[in-house]
Amino acid sequence: MSNWTPPNVVAVLDPAYPQDELIYAELGLTVVCEPADEQWVLKRVDGPLSLINPQGLMQRLDFTEGKSRHRTREPGHGAAPLRKALGVASFEKRRLRKPCVVDATGGWGQDAWLMASMGCDVILIEQHPLVHAVLSSSLDIAKLDDQCKETCERITLLNADACEMLSNLETDVVYLDPMYPHRVRKKADSKKGMQILQTLLPPANENLSGALLDAALFTAAQRVVVKRPKGADRLPASQPFTGQTIEIQSPNTRYDIYLRPTG
Ligand SMILES: C[S@@+](CC[C@H](N)C(=O)[O-])C[C@H]1O[C@@H](n2cnc3c(N)ncnc32)[C@H](O)[C@@H]1O
Repeated sequence: MSNWTPPNVVAVLDPAYPQDELIYAELGLTVVCEPADEQWVLKRVDGPLSLINPQGLMQRLDFTEGKSRHRTREPGHGAAPLRKALGVASFEKRRLRKPCVVDATGGWGQDAWLMASMGCDVILIEQHPLVHAVLSSSLDIAKLDDQCKETCERITLLNADACEMLSNLETDVVYLDPMYPHRVRKKADSKKGMQILQTLLPPANENLSGALLDAALFTAAQRVVVKRPKGADRLPASQPFTGQTIEIQSPNTRYDIYLRPTG
């Protein structure tokens, strides 16, 4: 039995952004001036809404800086395994366009940004309202940047449970990066964003991720790509997949690819 309880999150209003009062009300957050020691805080930090845990660990997303900006300047830089897993080159050769992708496990949007900077249109679904709020405000800020605008415009962000949403969507590819099971967490533990997600979200549940794979297999016209840690089992789908499956390895990650017959 898990003894996980959702963290106690409050908001701090920046007078420069009075409109955030509505966002905080929609998220059901109490606005305070001074958070208590044990409280998590959602507040603006130099622009985007950022989430800070009681230990002071902060998740602030800025797609206009660092790796994200670099990826915008050099599309697909450092992303050869992901590009291959999505089948971008072969799809483009056949269809003369890039595949559209539903990223059904949005998280902090890093993979979605990578896919959009490769030129794919991406529908990005994140179920957790706070993670969605952080992503949404960060994308809004990136839209104001001349170099990032085009990448942003390829991303449509939704706050929903992808299991429910997927059957309403049409897409070439569904991409899944569910939380890693505890027993195979290794390097992911050291990443700040993942540490925050691991406490913010209920413990990873392989059966729920398997249900997401079922929904993805129903929706994707071309392929489903599942990002897994090296050494992890495949996600448990409810029925054995009868099509072809392949794997692509990168240093810490494996992509499991479920191919549909291309017709
Ligand atoms: C490991 S993180 C994804 C990280 C992401 N690929 C990135 O690059 O930042 C998994 C995320 O998927 C979200 N998620 C899990 N199941 C979901 C579902 N059924 N619908 C929407 N989001 C889901 C979780 O809330 C979490 O934020």
